[in-house]
Amino acid sequence: MNANITATRRVWLRAAAVVLILLIVAGAWLGWARGFREEPQPAWVFESAEARFKYGSIGAEHDAGVPYWIFYVLPRVFPEKFVQDGKPAPGGYAALGVAWEQGQELPVGFTKKTIGFPRVANNCAACHTTSYRSDADSNPVFVTAGAGHTVNIQNFFRLLIDCAKDPRFNADILMAEINRVTQLDLIDKLLYRFAIIPITKKRLLEREAQFAWLYRPDFPDWGRGRDDAMNLTKYFMIRAPMDDTFGPTDIPAIWNLGKYHWDKGHRLNYAGDSHDVYSVVIDSALGVLGAAPADKADFAAQVKWLQDYLTHKAPPKYPFPIDAERAAAGKSVFDAHCASCHASERTGTRIALAEVGTDRGRLESWNKWAAIKANETVAAMGIERRGLVEEDLGGYKIPFLDGIWLRAPYLHNGSVPTLRDLLEPAASRPKVFWRGYDVFDQAKVGFVSDGYDARRTGTRMDTAGKGGGNQGHEFGTALAAGDKEALVEYLKTQ
Ligand code: HEC
Ligand code: HEC
Repeated sequence: MNANITATRRVWLRAAAVVLILLIVAGAWLGWARGFREEPQPAWVFESAEARFKYGSIGAEHDAGVPYWIFYVLPRVFPEKFVQDGKPAPGGYAALGVAWEQGQELPVGFTKKTIGFPRVANNCAACHTTSYRSDADSNPVFVTAGAGHTVNIQNFFRLLIDCAKDPRFNADILMAEINRVTQLDLIDKLLYRFAIIPITKKRLLEREAQFAWLYRPDFPDWGRGRDDAMNLTKYFMIRAPMDDTFGPTDIPAIWNLGKYHWDKGHRLNYAGDSHDVYSVVIDSALGVLGAAPADKADFAAQVKWLQDYLTHKAPPKYPFPIDAERAAAGKSVFDAHCASCHASERTGTRIALAEVGTDRGRLESWNKWAAIKANETVAAMGIERRGLVEEDLGGYKIPFLDGIWLRAPYLHNGSVPTLRDLLEPAASRPKVFWRGYDVFDQAKVGFVSDGYDARRTGTRMDTAGKGGGNQGHEFGTALAAGDKEALVEYLKTQ
């Protein structure tokens, strides 16, 4: 009898153990499926190279992604944070100056991918897409791989942190808003309430310490179309302690990268601080991912695709009329005054700061130690590349001028609004102007940078601010007015 009871109990115990194990397995599977199972993006994203560049994931959803429904409701819960220069700006994320195509759910450069649950992250196009309009009444033209002169990166970073710091960033308030726009199933509701929302808040707050310099009152704002590129690398990738340097740079165009030849001494980035295209694409992608890649083979494939696309992507042709005769006259002026640097074996190589005399803030924001550290960090991820030049920076790279008509504002810090202004002595260039308005100025070649609309849409750029000096590069400034006009006409053809 006793033995029987024990036997029955044993059977029961065994059954209970099996059920328990099954439950654990099912729970783990469910947790994995709802938390981490990766689904490919929809086919339309891969229908053209352009679409892939604009909306294709490069893997940033793993560590830098924001859960889709949180991303969706932030402008509804925190409308007062979606502002521009303290002024309310209607349209949620549009306040950040992102390129937004008609009929698209998300702006250019924002990717949506399901890893367990839908997440939103970024790719290169968030910064490297230009928008321009021929006049205030026309629709914008978007040029991929162009200079993202309208996007306000600093506001985007601050916005996410400011939302996370707000006591209203909690499960009750966010869930109430999410439930108004979508019907999540029970599991997703539980996941959002008890895991996704608190973890997202924690992660965003963790960024705050590294981003302290984004809030420094003694530094000017980056404004639209600029970021403090090397300090981003210093504080994010190598976790360097904060210093007093500030080197905001104009987001560059990255088309036609096939022009760079490492063995001819060409270097990348404004100060020529990186060896080759491959290295820059890797480092940029790691910056967007915000962490070591989750899947190294996939990462390598993304980098290769980006490099191929950007190597062959042609700069856009000037879309407005050109006076061919005047442009021909301008070519002679260019050959006499500019070609020795901009169309010679010096193009793409670095020259000493003293020879060009532009602002030095960008050079001070990076150094040999940081380059060594960054190279070590990437090597430790098992990624091989030539990488960053392990030297202190002595000057700027002489840029190629391909597609220069669409690369305003000019110079590495974006301190000169138009080509015509660049041909004036520094003292006569605009001291204050507005960045990020996208109506094109065909007379001066650049964007309209003052007047009611530019002031309303753009961010104020004061060239007296730290890192914003518009001095230097006075080449061609002594030319006769007619020669300057001709030169500008010629530059439209580049
Ligand atoms: C947050 C904005 C931002 C994002 C996102 C971004 N970049 Fe950039 N990129 C910049 C800025 C700013 C520079 C200029 C850096 C400098 O020299 O100061 C730059 C420079 C470059 C250059 C050097 C161009 C040259 O001619 O020297 C390349 C190439 C490049 N980026 C590629 C990429 C790729 C590929 C991605 C995506 C994997 C990417 N970038 C993502 C802002 C961005
Ligand atoms: C001694 C070499 C040298 C000469 C000569 C020279 N440049 Fe430059 N140019 C540079 C360097 C270096 C830069 C980058 C400076 C910086 O960004 O701080 C530059 C930048 C530029 C830019 C801005 C590019 C951008 O993406 O913002 C333009 C436009 C330009 N030069 C046009 C000209 C024209 C036109 C002439 C002739 C009148 C000329 N340059 C003569 C070296 C030169």
